[in-house]
Amino acid sequence: MTVLVTGGAGFIGSNFIHYWLKNRPEDRIVNLDSLTYAGHLESLKDISDNPNYQFIKGDITNPEDVKKAMDGVDIIVHFAAESHVDRSIIDPLTFVRTNVLGTALLLNTALDLGVKRFHHVSTDEVYGDLGPDDPPFNENTPYKSRTPYAASKAGADHLVRAYFKTYGLPVTITNCANNYGPYQDPEKLIPRFITNLLMGQKVPLMGQGENIREWLHVDDHSAAIDLVLQKGEIGETYLIEGEERANIEVTKAILQHLGMDESMIEYAEHRLGHDFRYANDGSKLRSLGWERQHDLGIWLPKTIDWYRENRWWWKPLKEGRPDVDRNTQKSYKQSL
Ligand SMILES: NC(=O)c1ccc[n+]([C@@H]2O[C@H](COP(=O)([O-])OP(=O)(O)OC[C@H]3O[C@@H](n4cnc5c(N)ncnc54)[C@H](O)[C@@H]3O)[C@@H](O)[C@H]2O)c1
Repeated sequence: MTVLVTGGAGFIGSNFIHYWLKNRPEDRIVNLDSLTYAGHLESLKDISDNPNYQFIKGDITNPEDVKKAMDGVDIIVHFAAESHVDRSIIDPLTFVRTNVLGTALLLNTALDLGVKRFHHVSTDEVYGDLGPDDPPFNENTPYKSRTPYAASKAGADHLVRAYFKTYGLPVTITNCANNYGPYQDPEKLIPRFITNLLMGQKVPLMGQGENIREWLHVDDHSAAIDLVLQKGEIGETYLIEGEERANIEVTKAILQHLGMDESMIEYAEHRLGHDFRYANDGSKLRSLGWERQHDLGIWLPKTIDWYRENRWWWKPLKEGRPDVDRNTQKSYKQSL
């Protein structure tokens, strides 16, 4: 079987490729990635010589690149996206181009070429945010996106469903909680905090760290997608839940593992439209047999150790960029 992974040089895509080649070594993987600032081929260094792995540098909004990458493909797992909320506030149109237009082109080409399955990787952020006592999101929660990132992912989700309803393209969708694990770009909260501290710098925590996120180890995400590909019903959406923690709790856990105290926290302003809480009801996915295998209490320390032992991977990324933490808008404008 040949699997096309879009965005395979990114955080989750690269972990998914490792997962797939380990569990299904006989399958062929094609990785289509345009290598934006978030695409790192170093994350796939160890498998770059694997004869069952092929990298194509190409853009999901370019019809020729997409057609070339889809040639002979059985399954598509679509990760490629602009994924950082702060960047979407500064440059929303790039998000619309990649996340909406890119997904539309992939769907259209998949339909033309008769691809057997299109799996779309999405986020729980499409549902908006929750108050402290609200029940978690489920698959029937109305979409209420609040950031350009979330809105562009919502647009993509709607297109995926439309291609199923209108044309019968065999699709599935997963909307996942925040991921953590190795090879995550140091612009995202957990790796940013770990790498800042490893470099002796403070960590910028928005507000008082009261915002709540659900966290899922990236290998549990890969396993969930694998299960949906095997057992999920065509046309259906599955939410993937994580473990709920306030950002201050995650921050304290990182500080504690590194033997540091709260004087390393620098409190920063909330981002525009900062969502308060996300939480997912994962019972539909669990009914297929999925269970979380990685507890945050064990795997957050292991993830910290990975960054401590793999400075070669993140140090060049960190050095090449302005720190966007405190004066986000200005710094991002300079770096775009
Ligand atoms: N990271 C999370 O916590 C999380 C949670 C839920 C859902 N998701 C979704 O999972 C997917 C992967 O997220 P991630 O954190 O790995 O993102 P990432 O930013 O680390 O990686 C995105 C990858 O897509 C590539 N890419 C971007 N634009 C492209 C284009 N036009 N053509 C081809 N490739 C392009 C980049 O080069 C990069 O390799 C995204 O769709 C995201 O919305 C992420």
